Amino acid sequence: MASMVAEDEGEGKGPPRAIQDLLKEAGQERVVRFWGELSDGERRALCDQVESLKLGEVRGYLDAARESALRGEGQGAPEPVGADQVCSRSALSADKREEYVAEGLGLIAEGKVGVVLMAGGQGTRLGTKLPKGCVDLGLSDSRTLFRVQAERISRLQSLAASAKFGEGAEVRNPVMWYIMLSDATRVHTERYFRENSYFGLNESQVRMFNQGKLPCVTEQGEVLLESRGKVAEAPDGNGGIYEALLVSGCLQSMRERGVEYVDCYCVDNLLAKIADPLLVGYCSKFGADLGCRTLAKSSPNERVGVFVKSGGGGVGVVEYSELDPEMSARVANPTTGELYYNWSNICMQYYTVDFLERVCREGRAALGHHLAVKTIPTVDGEARGVKLEQFIFDVFHLATRSCLLEVRREEEFAPIKSEIESATAALAALEKKWAESGSTEDFHAWWYLLP
Ligand code: UTP
Repeated sequence: MASMVAEDEGEGKGPPRAIQDLLKEAGQERVVRFWGELSDGERRALCDQVESLKLGEVRGYLDAARESALRGEGQGAPEPVGADQVCSRSALSADKREEYVAEGLGLIAEGKVGVVLMAGGQGTRLGTKLPKGCVDLGLSDSRTLFRVQAERISRLQSLAASAKFGEGAEVRNPVMWYIMLSDATRVHTERYFRENSYFGLNESQVRMFNQGKLPCVTEQGEVLLESRGKVAEAPDGNGGIYEALLVSGCLQSMRERGVEYVDCYCVDNLLAKIADPLLVGYCSKFGADLGCRTLAKSSPNERVGVFVKSGGGGVGVVEYSELDPEMSARVANPTTGELYYNWSNICMQYYTVDFLERVCREGRAALGHHLAVKTIPTVDGEARGVKLEQFIFDVFHLATRSCLLEVRREEEFAPIKSEIESATAALAALEKKWAESGSTEDFHAWWYLLP
């Protein structure tokens, strides 16, 4: 591209012909309206950006998202999953629990379980410039979400090695940790891991990859400029994970390393029980290709998606922002107060790599885009604009055999959204319980193996 700019540009000249054609075809010629005021470097950067973003497709995404929303409205309310579709962790017999945990630990020890972390979000609500995973949580040892999660993985792999190969056995197959980042989080995260020597993990077991990005647009579909020489862009949503896993080669890496199951989670859950052996064992014994953790919603206003039925006995999810508030508040059981849309999606799920590969290669068409109307900083000041996002759960209905496991909120779900304190308080409460239990295990071992 650089050479093309050098050839075509000059005093008074417009952008390179190829860029002009591309913008014309996309109906986005105004992207270069400040061309005459840009330096050579800015021009080059803008051309590169225009080429890398899917400008030609963006109006189509917008129209399709609107059509799909209208179609959804026409179809009436989706049916929620019932309690009969949910297996409760607490309801498992001690024997079953032990069987699943042993199975899960065995698979982890053999290197058959990988973890995928989604850490590409911009963390707007928390209002920090740092990636969420790097923010000091105000706990002892300058703990951050990344540090805590690395320590968990480290402890889990040694627990698994001991269970499989004998007490104190060394880790033969470190758990692979695939971390999805975005332009907003990549550079800082990489540096943070390097400067902290990967928190004791092997550098080779940590693989970072970037998700895609999309331009931000006006509600009419015109691409917004962040500055005179830069298009406003945003990560393509957590559903970007499927394309990113494929394009980055992470899927191939899983195959090469013999990873057969993956546990996928969000960076912001301070109590994420990463690769929980019980869940892994349960799902693999059940023969599930998708296994989602779920919780009863704490209140109608809780900002979580809910599980609904999809054709063929599978599950789907409706995001909170897309569920009518009246429907969210509908009560199924007046005595217990249980909500009609009761089972929430905490966005932590197990996949077989076979299913993941099928989705990444063939299922991405099911993803579509969702519209989030946001205030976006632009060259003309703050403007109302639209971010286009894909949702990770829009392929869940493609699973042949899926299961939902109810976990305990106080043990497994403490997301950091607009503040940190509620999550750290939940962790402190759990640590207190551990201290009072008289357990001879360290906290992580106690927590991972809780009945
Ligand atoms: P959220 O939707 O809560 O977004 O992401 P966020 O970026 O953390 O916070 P806000 O909405 O801007 O305040 C849930 C999870 O999905 C990841 C986030 O990093 C978080 O782990 N995510 C979200 C991505 O990895 N990529 C995205 O494009 C969006």
